[in-house]
Amino acid sequence: MPLTRRSFLAGTSAVAAGVAMGPWVLRSHAQAGPIKIGVVLPYSGVYAVLGESITQAMELVFARENWTVAGRKIEMIKEDDQMTPKTGIEKTEKLIESDKVDILTGPVHSGILLGMRDKVHNTRTILIVSNAGADDVSRGKCSKWIFRASFSNWQPNQPMGGWVARNVAKDVFLVAPNYAAGKDMMTAFKETFLPAGGKVVAEDYPKLGETDYAPYLTKIRNSGAKGVYCFFSGTDAVNFVKQFDEFGLKQSVRLTGAGFLVEPDVLPAQGKAALGIISGHFYTPLLENPTNQKFVKEFRAKFNNKMPDGFACQGHDTAETIVRALKAVNGNTQDKARLVEVIEKTEFDSPRGRFRFDPKTHNVIQPYIYVREVRDVHGGLNNVVIDKIADVRDPGTGCTLPA
Ligand code: BEZ
Repeated sequence: MPLTRRSFLAGTSAVAAGVAMGPWVLRSHAQAGPIKIGVVLPYSGVYAVLGESITQAMELVFARENWTVAGRKIEMIKEDDQMTPKTGIEKTEKLIESDKVDILTGPVHSGILLGMRDKVHNTRTILIVSNAGADDVSRGKCSKWIFRASFSNWQPNQPMGGWVARNVAKDVFLVAPNYAAGKDMMTAFKETFLPAGGKVVAEDYPKLGETDYAPYLTKIRNSGAKGVYCFFSGTDAVNFVKQFDEFGLKQSVRLTGAGFLVEPDVLPAQGKAALGIISGHFYTPLLENPTNQKFVKEFRAKFNNKMPDGFACQGHDTAETIVRALKAVNGNTQDKARLVEVIEKTEFDSPRGRFRFDPKTHNVIQPYIYVREVRDVHGGLNNVVIDKIADVRDPGTGCTLPA
């Protein structure tokens, strides 16, 4: 439209009226619509159950607020990343450019997070990571705009190396899917396993989504290893644990790993094959703090008696962070720098313990990493805490966030 004297005057008088009425009027006018939360998660493929748990817990927290914060409706726009970095990046672009989301959350897969990172950083989109642990995002690729409410891959694995060497076995076979998360986790394990006198007998990296582990289990049997330390999750965890048992390895080789291996999302499908597995994780639904007890009760009531897992705890903490931050800025999502300041200071009682972000990296500080053993207690298979390591924070090497 050409700028005539009349339209110019109409425009200036509207601005003048806005200034006279103060910033509240301008803001409420500009921000009357819903707050859009973009969600990039796997709803199909190996990690579909993880995406489901995260989403359910986010919905539970938003439902507690009646899906309204500071007078604005919360709208979740969910996209299935289909477990591929290409799709994950396309969905991220769609959410940022077409949907113009206020806040982005997800993903599960470390490779997808690494692929999304530059787009998020360069567009100054606030991303609250609800699973993917790629270490680099708390290190050389950290960003002022990215927070992580889940874990870095280093966190549950680094403390486990020394623990396994001292308490389980010195001769250990390492196995994990062949992508960023598998590599990060095994590297973190070795960081404390080797100095504690452990020896890596061999290590192997099957493809993500492998269904036949027989060639790998044969190598484990022939290696003479006394223990296995692994990372698998979703359907990979079900297949590996069941086939490990069917191979008869459970009798001679102790199976240990990152806690994702035996979370409640997969325990029912693994059944007795999971008994005795030792793993490291920041959560178990058996934690006795009041926030967790309330969360477990509400989650089971809302989702057909399903037991919440660590992924649900992450979804809870992602949504809780969002709700608290939005309340603190009275629903104003336009001032992104202010929103970042507020998120940095967000602290609350989570089902995992006291939740807070490390100001150095924007990664969550784990109150504890629990060493857990799968036992048949409290009416079913559960991860029982047998030891714990306090205050586990990613080293954040190479991360310098602007002040
Ligand atoms: C990851 O890719 O970062 C990941 C996936 C599943 C469980 C834990 C980490």
